[in-house]
Amino acid sequence: MLDVRLKLFNELNYVHIMLSKIECVISNLRCEGMLDNLSDDKRSPEDWEIGCSKDYVRNKIVIPDIVDRVNANHSTRCADVGAGTGYITREIIKKYPELGVQWSLLEIDQEMREYCAAKAAGLKGCSVISYDVFEGSKCLSKKFDIVFCCFSCLEFGISLETVGNMTDLACENGKVVLYLPDVLEDVEKMCVETSTTKPISSYRRGVVDVSKVDKFTKKREKFLAVRVEIIISYFITSGFFCSDLKFIRRDEERSVVVLEFCRDHAANR
Ligand SMILES: C[S@@+](CC[C@H](N)C(=O)[O-])C[C@H]1O[C@@H](n2cnc3c(N)ncnc32)[C@H](O)[C@@H]1O
Repeated sequence: MLDVRLKLFNELNYVHIMLSKIECVISNLRCEGMLDNLSDDKRSPEDWEIGCSKDYVRNKIVIPDIVDRVNANHSTRCADVGAGTGYITREIIKKYPELGVQWSLLEIDQEMREYCAAKAAGLKGCSVISYDVFEGSKCLSKKFDIVFCCFSCLEFGISLETVGNMTDLACENGKVVLYLPDVLEDVEKMCVETSTTKPISSYRRGVVDVSKVDKFTKKREKFLAVRVEIIISYFITSGFFCSDLKFIRRDEERSVVVLEFCRDHAANR
């Protein structure tokens, strides 16, 4: 009887060990994004536009912040890198016509550009331009007073190459302004979801692949989270300095990060 019990105990123990090993493998796979139902579909411009129109961050934080910066710098030529449907810029033109800015909406996706151009028809000071941040500004003769990039960096990634090409768009005294979520919040969530500290370790080393459900498309999407300090170091390497850094609270839990960079004339001498 004792033998049977001991055998049973050992077998249960073995099953328990195997189960925890399987659990560990699953959570590592999750952490690497291999089990996620990631979206391969392209975003629909209509869905994106509807999402933007209801979005607190774009309407109550990003748009007023852009308007303040355009006013403070007396900017007349501005670019929006990865403009999507152009919602942000079009809203600014409609609500603040007195700004008199010439906006260039730079976007890689043809469907987004066509949607944006149709919506912008009749709006003064708005041109939609085919642009790939990896190709740079070779095709653009204009330089801009402020180059804005609202959340698009998450999609194409922040690297020395993309930062170098964005800074190339700025004129002699031009600025580059990035709007990003506080990615550390997403990294923290990934650690909880996967029950590992792998995401935070990757983030500490600089970059981590984050997968989360997009609030507009409701699909799980992947993006690259880069440490704020690393972003600043890429700009410094490109001859710019960080002239403003804000964490704007959107609610108890989350913040929007705004980073502004100016050309560093002393460093470029
Ligand atoms: C997350 S959406 C943001 C759109 C808009 N800035 C907004 O806040 O609503 C990212 C946009 O970046 C564009 N994009 C992705 N890769 C790009 C690239 N290499 N060059 C230019 N735009 C790109 C996408 O097509 C998409 O429209």
